[in-house]
Amino acid sequence: MARYAYVNGRYVDHRHASVHIEDRGYQLADGVYEVVGIRDGKLIDETLHIDRLDRSLKELRIGWPVARSTLGFIIRELMRRNNLRDGLVYMQVTRGVARRDHAFPTTPVTPALVITTKNTKRLDADPGPGIAIKSHPDIRWERCDIKTVALLPNVLAKQAARESGAYEAWLVDDKGCVTEGASTNAWIVTNDGELVTRQTDNGILAGITRHSLKTLANSMQLKFVERPFTLAEAKKAKEAFITSATSFVTPVVKIDGEAVGDGKVGPTARRLREEYVRFASQGEAVT
Ligand code: PDD
Repeated sequence: MARYAYVNGRYVDHRHASVHIEDRGYQLADGVYEVVGIRDGKLIDETLHIDRLDRSLKELRIGWPVARSTLGFIIRELMRRNNLRDGLVYMQVTRGVARRDHAFPTTPVTPALVITTKNTKRLDADPGPGIAIKSHPDIRWERCDIKTVALLPNVLAKQAARESGAYEAWLVDDKGCVTEGASTNAWIVTNDGELVTRQTDNGILAGITRHSLKTLANSMQLKFVERPFTLAEAKKAKEAFITSATSFVTPVVKIDGEAVGDGKVGPTARRLREEYVRFASQGEAVT
């Protein structure tokens, strides 16, 4: 069966989907994106993702390429065409096509919209054996709250992690604090059983999974605090885990080769993942 992509108003064969060489996303990383998890044919936290897309667009003064309701329709049509049950939807909006110049185009351009889908293995409540983390200096800019396609520092950090045998990189600022992962948010559980993740500001992306997990943690009566934590504190923590639309809640069992806690998946991360999977299974199915 053909796999479709949506490119600027058309559903096209994914293999031949393309944009113009002077798309500003391609030349200048002048664009934003979203990744929405799909479970059993349902979008997880659709409204929050589209709200964040709206915020990213506003921060960069890029217009909406289509009406918000139209975007919802296109996503569903693409999911239907690609028979997407479990996986993700990727959407990207760039400022559009214009003669190369760093400043915004002076004549009106239409923002470019590209949407793709990806099938992935259905994530279940069992978190598996946990993952290893490699720390990496956070060399990004001061607007990490905007979900831009300018991801080179994240790419380099992730690659360094993979080359060391780790799954994810944790980015560490000049004070020794973990900001977030290369493509995930970072959490620890202290020896007092407190759930800690860094506060949201310009230093990290306000993850949608992070947000929903915060609500779940409150309903589970877990002690939860948003504050910076150092890499040293993380290594001595009882548990650690990451969150994102693609990994849900995934336990961390090793940081820079050192075991976290007893080196096994901890009970808090396990429970949170179960709750998140339950939460992600709700929602409206795409027919
Ligand atoms: N990444 N921090 C960064 C830097 C991210 O890129 C992401 C998401 C997150 C988690 O956000 P959310 O819970 O909304 O997925 C945190 C996506 C999945 C990606 O780039 O593929």
